[in-house]
Amino acid sequence: MGEITSPRPPKLQGKVAIITGGASGIGEATARLFANEGARAVVIADIQDELGQKVASSIGDQCTYMHCDVTNEDQVKALVESTVHNFGKLDIMFSNAGVLRTCKGDQKILDLDLDASDLMFAINVRGMAACVKHAARAMVEGGIRGGSIVCTASLVAAWGIPQSIDYVMSKHAVLGLVRAASKGLGEHGIRVNCVSPGGVATPLVCGEFHMSVEECEKIFDGDIGLKGCGALKAEDMANAVLFLSSQDSAFVTGHNLVVDAGTRPYA
Ligand SMILES: NC(=O)c1ccc[n+]([C@@H]2O[C@H](COP(=O)([O-])OP(=O)(O)OC[C@H]3O[C@@H](n4cnc5c(N)ncnc54)[C@H](O)[C@@H]3O)[C@@H](O)[C@H]2O)c1
Repeated sequence: MGEITSPRPPKLQGKVAIITGGASGIGEATARLFANEGARAVVIADIQDELGQKVASSIGDQCTYMHCDVTNEDQVKALVESTVHNFGKLDIMFSNAGVLRTCKGDQKILDLDLDASDLMFAINVRGMAACVKHAARAMVEGGIRGGSIVCTASLVAAWGIPQSIDYVMSKHAVLGLVRAASKGLGEHGIRVNCVSPGGVATPLVCGEFHMSVEECEKIFDGDIGLKGCGALKAEDMANAVLFLSSQDSAFVTGHNLVVDAGTRPYA
């Protein structure tokens, strides 16, 4: 008689999660996976209201959308407070909203547009810090030991590329945020980690460079070391975020999980 195996239990049963930048790309794929893994509530927060509403309703009743511009601390605070009010707690914050460019063209050091860099930092750094701060406060106040905060950094959090100086700086800062906050929150039993994607053909990249998904993936393919496994997808990043959000990584904190199929260093 064949062995009877039972399906594995969902990894996020009963959990309440917020995903910033959840209307598109990596955030959207993660929202879908979290809902499939039994999360009781997944709150998508973004500035693309129509798209965010559409994504939330396509996922189902456990997913809702809320407008939140992460550059505005009051909106981040309201996002966290309304989640706790509506669902009783916050277990997981996936702070993922980010942009690649805030001006036309490259941002090389000799012509660096510092006003554009300020906006980049407002979104990718200040916004990320506001999400970590308010999520951590809600977890500490709610006595949520085992809370998990995951940020989205990048391969360029540890490398340099000359044409996007401000983006590179902003992602280095995310790594610093994760390392420092994980030390500060350990005593509360809250973990803080980040994922660093290699090239994924999301609207962030395809939109910026006016390329199709296929064209983008072809370019990324030339950079990766792991051949024959296809292009890195948003769903692959979602799996990494799930690992860092679930009990599977209960002893992992302050970690930068690079998911890049062995992409060669740019610098
Ligand atoms: N795609 C890649 O190759 C890649 C590589 C490394 C890192 N990343 C990072 O992954 C994260 C997600 O990007 P993606 O590739 O899924 O792109 P995406 O453009 O598909 O998704 C980003 C989302 O963030 C939202 N957003 C932008 N500014 C915001 C703000 N001020 N407040 C709230 N939401 C805001 C956008 O509306 C969008 O829905 C970003 O932090 C990005 O830097 C992406």
